Amino acid sequence: MVTLFIDGKEITVEDNTLILDAAKQAGVDIPTFCYQADLSGQGSCRMCIIEIEGQKKLQPACITPVIADIKVQTASPHVKSARTAMLEFLLSNHGMDCPVCDKGGECELQDMVHEYGPRKGRHTEPKIKFHKKDYFLSPVIVKNSNRCVQCTRCVRVCSEIVGRGVLGQIGRGRHQEETSFMREELDCDHCGMCIEVCPVGCFMRRPYRFKSRPWDLNSVKSVCTYCATGCRITVQERDGEVVRSMAHQSGGFNNRMLCARGRFGYDITNSKGRLIEPMMRRKKDGELEPVSWEEAMTTLRERLIRTAPEKVGAVTGARLTNEELYMFQRIMREGIGTNNIDSSSRWNPDFSAAFAAVTGIPSGGTNIYNAMEAETAFILGGQVSDENPVTDYIIRNVSAGRRTAVIVASTRAMKLDSSALLKIRHNPGSVGAMIKAVSAELYSKNNKKLGSVEAFGAIEGFDSKELSKLSGVTEADIKA
Ligand code: SF4
Ligand code: FES
Repeated sequence: MVTLFIDGKEITVEDNTLILDAAKQAGVDIPTFCYQADLSGQGSCRMCIIEIEGQKKLQPACITPVIADIKVQTASPHVKSARTAMLEFLLSNHGMDCPVCDKGGECELQDMVHEYGPRKGRHTEPKIKFHKKDYFLSPVIVKNSNRCVQCTRCVRVCSEIVGRGVLGQIGRGRHQEETSFMREELDCDHCGMCIEVCPVGCFMRRPYRFKSRPWDLNSVKSVCTYCATGCRITVQERDGEVVRSMAHQSGGFNNRMLCARGRFGYDITNSKGRLIEPMMRRKKDGELEPVSWEEAMTTLRERLIRTAPEKVGAVTGARLTNEELYMFQRIMREGIGTNNIDSSSRWNPDFSAAFAAVTGIPSGGTNIYNAMEAETAFILGGQVSDENPVTDYIIRNVSAGRRTAVIVASTRAMKLDSSALLKIRHNPGSVGAMIKAVSAELYSKNNKKLGSVEAFGAIEGFDSKELSKLSGVTEADIKA
């Protein structure tokens, strides 16, 4: 542990803590541009500079680790005037088109200039114009490089968290532009993480273009329903129309990450083709016509009650909440008297019980962050990169930081393969055979330890060669 003084406050932190994080722990806020928690340190924008007693030069707090007994000033006159000068440099080449910029009202540069000045710029040289018109980088991303502050958060998030690496820097110095290769349309996840992290109006969401200002929006916190990851989101509406969904700013499980579906998938609620009221055929072969909920439910109840309960079956969607599923089964069992219920998720009951047991669901479950504390993460049974993109981002990010050994087993290639120590392709439907083969291999190496686990006794009879053939996984991969 290291003890130091920040703005006169004594604080003790872990070795190697960054001064920025130590200040946070001491309740002192240091402004940043290029810093982003979870991304590699860059130390280029110099907004976070601080003064260390005895050192001539100001130091960037976001990449400087603590040293015992140092005395740090985060808001001395020297620091403040240096921050103002940094902002003056940034503004000397910034578009200054705030009235027409989508980021107006939620722009970090605006906020910073408001707080630290300058009130007047002295640079009169012509500004560099990267392009005359905003250009489209994807069906959902629009770009204006004239507003860039070159923090490279966009580039780093794309390669370090999303794992696509389709953004880079063209040019150097004032001519540096963060964009796609040849400014062409991106071949990527279209997750919009570049929009999320961009502090200014460079990366913008196309569907939200010129639609609103943040103060005209009503926000509601929610949980994304597109997949089982359960990301926390904020859905925003204006005049009854959903105009934007974004990652919840106070973090949440997904830590400000969202995939394309979570970020751009909620305007479906405005679709004209959406069914928003019950429809009923009043006569056989008649047209479907809208009816009230009351009429629909009464008709349903009367018709179901007239039918013998054992002839009634009900199937529910896989995306309902636990509470809704509970209510659904209760209505069917107690109200109608049938046990013929099913869900489109179609899990085998034996598998569900085993899954619940190994993931500790009855005692609150194991989340992905806990799971990633293991030395090795074995990921199998799905295409996590496509089905649960934010889980893919978390695995990539956490495994890189902790150097976790990631093993991916799937039927097809996926993006997470690039973060895997070992990637295994198995035949469709043969994941069980592959697990048996791996278990038999483990058992043959360490039967004393594994022999104490119930059910491992049965493994003695498994023929690894046969299982390897069945699953399509080579014996070398099973051993590895
Ligand atoms: Fe930073 Fe935005 Fe410029 Fe990327 S485009 S470097 S996120 S200001
Ligand atoms: Fe520290 Fe940019 S935030 S140098």
